[in-house]
Amino acid sequence: MYQDPTTTIEHLYSGTPVYRNELIGLLKCNDPYILDLLYKKADLVRQEIYGTDVYIRGLIEFTNYCKNNCYYCGIRRDNKAVVRYRLTTDHIMSCCEEGYNLGFRTFVLQGGEDGYFTSDKICHIVRSIKSAYPDCAVTLSVGEWSRSDYQAFFDAGADRYLLRHETACEEHYRKLHPSEMSLEKRKECLFNLKDIGYQIGSGFMVGSPFQTLDNLVDDIFFLAKLKPHMIGIGPFITHKDTPFSGEKSGTLDMTLKLISILRLSHPKALIPATTALGTIHPNGRELGLKAGANVVMPNLSPVDVREKYTLYDNKLSTGDEAAQSLESLKTSIANAGYEIVVDVGHSKVDK
Ligand code: 5AD
Repeated sequence: MYQDPTTTIEHLYSGTPVYRNELIGLLKCNDPYILDLLYKKADLVRQEIYGTDVYIRGLIEFTNYCKNNCYYCGIRRDNKAVVRYRLTTDHIMSCCEEGYNLGFRTFVLQGGEDGYFTSDKICHIVRSIKSAYPDCAVTLSVGEWSRSDYQAFFDAGADRYLLRHETACEEHYRKLHPSEMSLEKRKECLFNLKDIGYQIGSGFMVGSPFQTLDNLVDDIFFLAKLKPHMIGIGPFITHKDTPFSGEKSGTLDMTLKLISILRLSHPKALIPATTALGTIHPNGRELGLKAGANVVMPNLSPVDVREKYTLYDNKLSTGDEAAQSLESLKTSIANAGYEIVVDVGHSKVDK
């Protein structure tokens, strides 16, 4: 049954169950008036829950070694052009110190799946940060581990965990990842993390190679089932040294549409306007906020390693993406009608 996109927006807004063909219709829609309505409704919902507050997270990319070989990712194992690096605990602690003084109250430790960082080492880093900054949240984004490792990180004090599912469709997953990786395992990790008590974040890339509109609806439905506290989505961006070097990047419009749909479906979720969105469009981050996002994640990694953490081409790491330019970020966000707050910024999603 065909539904006009305005009715679909109303259904999303009122929490009425939305069917696959309705979502496909909305994802296909390019009418600027209807899209404007979608963004406005998403912004309204965001403002009802979070006002105009924008939470900031200090991103520390502490290793770019990775044992995985995802076809889309610039730090994949087989990319020999990457100069690999690891930060020491001291280095990580000085990033946190700088971040704390700038007003950050959440630190996101992100890295490739690097065997050097054993579970014990990660626990040690988490404990060090939590004892120095007990008023801050620590978010881990370090990939797939066993349930007992996740439990150990949690017991060491980690509050949140980011693990994008990347795509909820098995057939599509197989086209993005080599055979040693598994979607089932990914999903199991997410449910384990949630069960342990983390605030969890998941998400996917928009416009990744071979992605269909049906795949995107699968992603929306998967997130509806998972009910994560945080949802990170951004456009796929080509990286020149990956098997997908000849593929097209995702678009601003499709990413904004999905941010709004996800905001309407998850009113209380934390949704970042991602670096990838800021990379494909000069105003991407502000447009993301206007479409329902409420988090930004500036880079706190040491300047000399930033260009080595290249998940995709032209990744922003200076200007407003750099934590050190917080003043300028505050201004651009204020110009968009929002306000950066110094706050730990927990999700309001019910446990
Ligand atoms: N373009 C956009 N996002 C990417 N990621 C990895 N490679 C790319 C790319 N080429 C995203 C993945 C991963 C997150 C850390 O970065 O979704 O989960």
